[in-house]
Amino acid sequence: MKSLFEPRAIAVIGASANPGKIGYRVVENILRSGYQGHLIPINPKGGEVLGLTAHRSLEEVEEPIDVAVIVIPASFVLEAVEACGAAGVQHLVIITSGFSEVGETESERRIVKTAHRYGMRVLGPNIFGIYSAASSLDATFGPGGITPGPVAIITQSGALGIAMIGKTATESVGLSALVSVGNKADIDEADLLEYLATDDRTRAILMYIEGVKSGDRLQRVLADVTRKKPVVVIKSGRSQRGSMAAASHTGSLAGADEVFDDIMRQCGVLRAESVQEAFTWVRYLSSARIPDGDQAVIVTNGGGIGVMATDACEKYDVSLYDDQTVLAKTFSDVMPDFGSSKNPVDLTGQASAEDYAKSLEAVLAEDRMDAAIALYCETALFDTEQFGELLRNVYETYRGRKPIVFSMFGGERIEELIRSLRGDGIPVYGDVYEAVSALGAIYRAKRRMQAPVEQDTPSSLPMDDIRRVLDRARADHRTFLLAPEAAEVAELLGLQMPRSILARGIEDAIRAAETIGYPVVMKIVSKDIVHKSDAGGVALDLVNEEEVVDAYQAILRSCRDYAPDAVIEGVEVVEMVSAGVETIVGARQDPSFGPVVMIGLGGIYVEVMKDVSFRAAPVSRRAARDMIADLRSYPLLLGVRGESRKDIDAIADVIVILSQLIHACPEITDIEVNPLIAYDHGKGTRTVDMRILLQKDKGGELT
Ligand code: COA
Repeated sequence: MKSLFEPRAIAVIGASANPGKIGYRVVENILRSGYQGHLIPINPKGGEVLGLTAHRSLEEVEEPIDVAVIVIPASFVLEAVEACGAAGVQHLVIITSGFSEVGETESERRIVKTAHRYGMRVLGPNIFGIYSAASSLDATFGPGGITPGPVAIITQSGALGIAMIGKTATESVGLSALVSVGNKADIDEADLLEYLATDDRTRAILMYIEGVKSGDRLQRVLADVTRKKPVVVIKSGRSQRGSMAAASHTGSLAGADEVFDDIMRQCGVLRAESVQEAFTWVRYLSSARIPDGDQAVIVTNGGGIGVMATDACEKYDVSLYDDQTVLAKTFSDVMPDFGSSKNPVDLTGQASAEDYAKSLEAVLAEDRMDAAIALYCETALFDTEQFGELLRNVYETYRGRKPIVFSMFGGERIEELIRSLRGDGIPVYGDVYEAVSALGAIYRAKRRMQAPVEQDTPSSLPMDDIRRVLDRARADHRTFLLAPEAAEVAELLGLQMPRSILARGIEDAIRAAETIGYPVVMKIVSKDIVHKSDAGGVALDLVNEEEVVDAYQAILRSCRDYAPDAVIEGVEVVEMVSAGVETIVGARQDPSFGPVVMIGLGGIYVEVMKDVSFRAAPVSRRAARDMIADLRSYPLLLGVRGESRKDIDAIADVIVILSQLIHACPEITDIEVNPLIAYDHGKGTRTVDMRILLQKDKGGELT
């Protein structure tokens, strides 16, 4: 990737002398940005482009070319790629549109295949180009004028990316790199992240993603990069649903966005709600110091905004310093009689600019206080110019030692002050929540960088035995396991299932119920009936022989009505499990991220409550416990209203096991334990039902 970001020579294929063409704009931007390497315009007509002699073809060029930017119509691109390969080019930046984004997938595939044949990598197609501060290179057709700095942006949307160039200027965000990935035919976010992680100029990374390709690799790379540098992501398409949504409960709960959100959190990525929020975060993350400790102090001259900041601290998980004795002592010299040294430290509207600056310095000089949130409401008493100077001094003195954020609220004078301080790179915000969210982002990034690296929980699943069961179903051309097969797998996995006996007649059923002990449950067994309850194929809580006989007959009658052609193997008589907290644990092959695992609470209401948590599989035991703790109704498992704590470790074990199974078996599309009943701590769980769905098998080949 280094030669893509630091090319010694760059060719523009389609360079044009016509200012109305993209091929002109790209050459103009490269020249204006101060690129020190060799720029080679290519145009079949020859002539001059912006004062440079254009070569008629690559064959005329004698020196080695690292990067070729392609800006010619789609129909000529393949030929140009071939020529680049023959000329020994290393990277192609294909700006041209008209490929997979409009259904021309085959021509895109051929371009990549040709490029790879020559050992070239492809950025794009359908992109606006690349900017790299490392070589002062703006090879985009954007507006130009990019300021170098510490933030790298990777964007899938071209239009948004170009708009971001303007935004970086108004937000005073300097860029180390700006890369448009477009159709991601070859180079994708993961490749770029790997490079940016090692790029010293880049201190924070912002990504705009629309759709994820090769999500399993992306999440592995992200998990690694976020330990070194903060990564902020904006993803559109929150309402998109997974493509296999109907296959299982897990599937219908696994909306693309829910899975994305949880996996980003798992990887330590900060997901922003909006472009504005993302800019606020990266600007701060790339300039502020990572705090040593967690305790922030709010200094304010207005009670109201102090309270708002306190609320914001709770929302963004920022801890507030609360040792009253130390606080009182710290502010004893500067606090007016009517002020309050409790955190938020309220100097009141009568405090002078000096009092305010002194209080802020008191926080920053005190070792036990780790960060300052400085709030200011405009008052008639303040001289804003003098105030601005004081703040600049305090910020300059302490910026390298502790994180500081400012928020100011008022009229024209304040707006002007905000603009001027921002221009000097001081983190000042008009909104209290924005200021605290920036500080919250740096705390989250810090927690991620310091989090212990997850050790994989070793898998000891008896895979050969499990595969034998799966193979039987596939030999039978089934895409699901029958209940007894699923029970066999559950047993091999070490999951506790209720005892069960297959009965092929009424007498059999009575004997089975007596062996197991009342009460029992009865369920139809037929490979033609997947949704047993819908077919009337389930009867619960049967307490004696008479009820078993009635249920047996009723089940057979309704199943024959429901599916007259179904082959019925018999009825399963199952131990009725006692009540506990009902959870659902599922695992599936996610269309974007590959194997994922899920835990949910809410019993039969799980799809309404959507209280679920996902992770990329396999997960460690610790990650499984984190997933459980992520649930909104986690307190139900901890024990509420005098109930005792449930066996959280046993639930975590089931999550780990299913995550290992889905990871080891790509032929399984969905596994679901529903419900998994959790009993009191130490008493384990019961797998009441387990379903396993398999990929379609076409002529013995997996599809
Ligand atoms: N090698 C070198 N130059 C070539 C060439 C070749 N094989 N074939 C054509 N050219 C020259 C043309 O002669 C022309 O130069 P000229 O102005 O001197 O005549 C120049 O390359 C451009 O070709 P032209 O046919 O004029 O195309 P265009 O400029 O109208 O459009 C694209 C080319 C790439 C801009 C257009 O096809 C496209 O894809 N536009 C969308 C780009 C986009 O939006 N990308 C995504 C952004 S997010």
